[in-house]
Amino acid sequence: MIYYQNMVNLEVKFVLMNKKEAKARIEALRNELNRHNHNYYVLNNPTISDYEFDILMRDLAQLEKLYPEFIIPDSPTQKVGSDLETPAEAKQEKSNNSEVPDGKNHFRQFPHKHPMLSLANTYNIEELKEFDQRIRKFTDQPYSYSCELKFDGTGINLYYKDGALERALTRGDGTVGDDVTENTKHIPSIPQHLRPGSGYPAEFEIRGEIYMPYEAFDKLNYERELNEEQEFANPRNAAAGSLKLIEPSQVSGRCLECILYHLIAEEFDVPTHTKAIECAASWGLPTSEYAKECSNIEEVTEYIQSWDEKRKTLPFPTDGMVVKVNQFALQKGLGYTAKIPRWAVAYKFKPEQALTQLISIDYQVGRTGAVTPVANLRPVQLSGTVVKRATLHNADQMKLLDIHYGDYVYVEKGGEIIPKITGVELSKRAVNAQPAIFPSVCPVCGTSLVRDEDEAKFFCPNSDNCTPQIEGKFIHFIGRKALNINAGEATIHQLFTKGYIKELEDLYNLTDFQLLSLDKWKEKSVANFKTSLEKSKSVPFGKVLFGLGIRFIGETTAKSLAARFKSIEGLKNATREELLETEDVGKALADSIIGYFKEPRHLNTIEKLKEAGLQLEIGASDTKVVSNVLQGKTIMITGNYSVPRETMKQYIEAHGGKVGSSVTGNTSYLVAGEKAGDAKLKKAEKLGIPVISEEDFYKIAASEKGADIGKPNGENEKDETLF
Ligand code: IVH
Repeated sequence: MIYYQNMVNLEVKFVLMNKKEAKARIEALRNELNRHNHNYYVLNNPTISDYEFDILMRDLAQLEKLYPEFIIPDSPTQKVGSDLETPAEAKQEKSNNSEVPDGKNHFRQFPHKHPMLSLANTYNIEELKEFDQRIRKFTDQPYSYSCELKFDGTGINLYYKDGALERALTRGDGTVGDDVTENTKHIPSIPQHLRPGSGYPAEFEIRGEIYMPYEAFDKLNYERELNEEQEFANPRNAAAGSLKLIEPSQVSGRCLECILYHLIAEEFDVPTHTKAIECAASWGLPTSEYAKECSNIEEVTEYIQSWDEKRKTLPFPTDGMVVKVNQFALQKGLGYTAKIPRWAVAYKFKPEQALTQLISIDYQVGRTGAVTPVANLRPVQLSGTVVKRATLHNADQMKLLDIHYGDYVYVEKGGEIIPKITGVELSKRAVNAQPAIFPSVCPVCGTSLVRDEDEAKFFCPNSDNCTPQIEGKFIHFIGRKALNINAGEATIHQLFTKGYIKELEDLYNLTDFQLLSLDKWKEKSVANFKTSLEKSKSVPFGKVLFGLGIRFIGETTAKSLAARFKSIEGLKNATREELLETEDVGKALADSIIGYFKEPRHLNTIEKLKEAGLQLEIGASDTKVVSNVLQGKTIMITGNYSVPRETMKQYIEAHGGKVGSSVTGNTSYLVAGEKAGDAKLKKAEKLGIPVISEEDFYKIAASEKGADIGKPNGENEKDETLF
C-alpha cells in the first residue's frame, strides 16, 4: 500500500493517457465508486476496505483535476455518499441482512436544515500540514484546532426544540435524511429531554455518530451465527443496519451508542467549537471525552500519533482523527465546498495490520466448485476482534506471496468478514520451512481440479457429486435472494448428511418425521419451514431461475433472462445466438446455460420443481400491463436514466412495448440516457433509427395514442412486482 509515494507517478500515468482513455477511466471509476457507495451506505455490506475506496476516490479526483471538462455534478467526488434506499433501489436489490427493508422505503424523509457534508481525508501527516498552511494563508489571526477521534459509525442529525428531541435524521444524501426518530428512542445515550434550566437554545441541531461498541458487535454476530443469519462485516455496518431496523423496539437489543460532535445553533453565541461542545455536554448530551484543543498543527500531529496505538485499546471502533478549526468566525470565513467543509479534515489511520503465524491452510470448495485457500492462523488481535482465519484468495496469490508453512504473515481487514493475508515476514522464516502448494485435486472428492482460461481460481468440475457443491447449491436455492426458504446452512448440512436431500426437489418432499429428527427442531420449526416452502411456490420465475444456481447466472442476469425468454422452456430452447443477444450474457454464461440443460439430472429437477408448483414461467402478475400504447414498438435503451434501467424496461413492457437487445432495422427508438453507449449511437445513426432523450421518450410515449402515461416514478414502482 504505497499510494502516496505513487501519487506523482500516477499523475504521470494519467497525463500519458489520451483524452478518450481518461474519459473511459473516469466513467469506470465513477461507476465503481457509486457501486461501493451503495454497498456501504444502503446495503451496509461493503466489499472493499475504506482505504481501497479512498484510493479509488483519489484516482478519480486526480483525473478530474487533469481533465476538468469531464467533471459532472453527479460525480462521487462532488457529492456525499447516500444512505437513502430509494424505493426503486430497495426493490431491485436486497441486502443479505434483514435490516434493509425490502420493497419500500420504511422511513419518511425530511430535508436537513443545513446540508450534512462529508470530510476531506488524508492518510498522510504532510497533507495535514498542507491543510494547516492553507488556513494560515487565509488568516493572520491566531487560531486553534479541535482534534477528535473519528468514530466509525453512521452519521446522525438530532433536532432539539425547547429542550425536547424533535427529530432524528440520518445523513441520507446530505440534503435529505431518513427519519429515524422512533429508533433513536431506543438508544439510551440520546436524551429525549435536555437538563432543565441548563441554558440550551430554544432550537438547535447537533450532529454525531451512532456506533456499536465491539462487545455488542461480537454478541450480535454470535447470535446471528447461531440463528443462521448473515453476520455483519464490521461494527459500522452493524450500527448503520441497526439504526434502520424496521421495528424500533428491536433497536434496544443492539446496544447502540451515540456521541455528538457538531453543534449548529443560530441563536447561540459562543466563539469556539470546543466551547459549544462543552455547553452541549452541560445540557446532558453525550460528547467525547477524548477531544483536545490544540494550539498548533504540531500539537495536533503529536495528539494524533499518541492515538495511533492507543486507539486499539478503545472499546469502540475509530478509523482516524478529525481536525477542526476551532474558531467559528474562521470556520465561516473558510466556508464549504459542495461536499466538504474547508475548515476540517479527517486523518485516517492506515488499515491495521497484525503479524501472526500460519498454522495450516484449508482449501474450501464453494457452491460453484471454486477452491479458495483459507489460512488458519495463531489467533491475533486485529481492529478490536480476534482473527484466526484469513483468505489467501487463490493459487496465484499464494505463489506471489511464496507462502511457506509456519511463516509469519501480515493480516489486514478489508471490507469483508474474512481478513486477508497481505504479506510474509521473510526474516522470520524457518530455514527448513516447506512451501505451501495448491492442490491439484479437489480436497473433498479427489477430482482433478480445472482452471478455465481467464479465471483466477481452480474449480472442482464434479458439481453433482462433491458434497460442499451440493450443500452450496441448496444454500443458494433457499437464500433470501432466491426461494427464501426458512432454513440455514446447518440445517442443510444435517439434511444432506442424513441422506434426506440430494436434488433440489427433495426439499419439497421432506416428511415431518425427517424434519423432527433435526437438532432442536420442534413442531413450530417444522411449521415455519413448511410455510416458507409454500410461499416459495409463488416466488417469481426470475428468482427461481437465480436459485437454480446455473453457473454465472447472477440475480440481475436471471431477471433479464426471465424477461427475455419468459419460461424455463423458452430458456432451454434458446440458441446460443439468442442467449448472446440478451443483456449481460457473455459467451461463458451462454455456454453454461446450454451445458446445464444438456444434463438429464437437471431436466429431471426442473420437471419435479414444476410438479411441486414452483413458478417456472413469467406469471400474469410478473409483468403488469398498464396500457398498450407502446404496442408494436421495439425500444432500445442505452446509458443511465433518472430511474434504474430495470425500471425503464419494466415501464416499456408495462405499456406494451418490447425492449430490444441490439439496435437493428426494427428498432423504433434508441432512448439515450447519460453515458449512452457509443457503438449503439453510431449504429442507430447508420440505420437512421431515431435517437431520443429520456424526457422526449416519455413525451413520445404519451403521444403515441394521445394518452398521458406519465413517467416511471416511485409510486408506480412500489405497487408493481414485476419479477
Ligand atoms: S465532523 C462538517 N467529527 O466522519 C463536518 N465527523 O468521513 C462534520 N465522523 O460525516 C463532521 N467522527 O459521520 C466529525 N469527531 C468527528 C467525527 C466525524 C466521525 C464522521 C461523520 C462524517 C464522516 C466523514
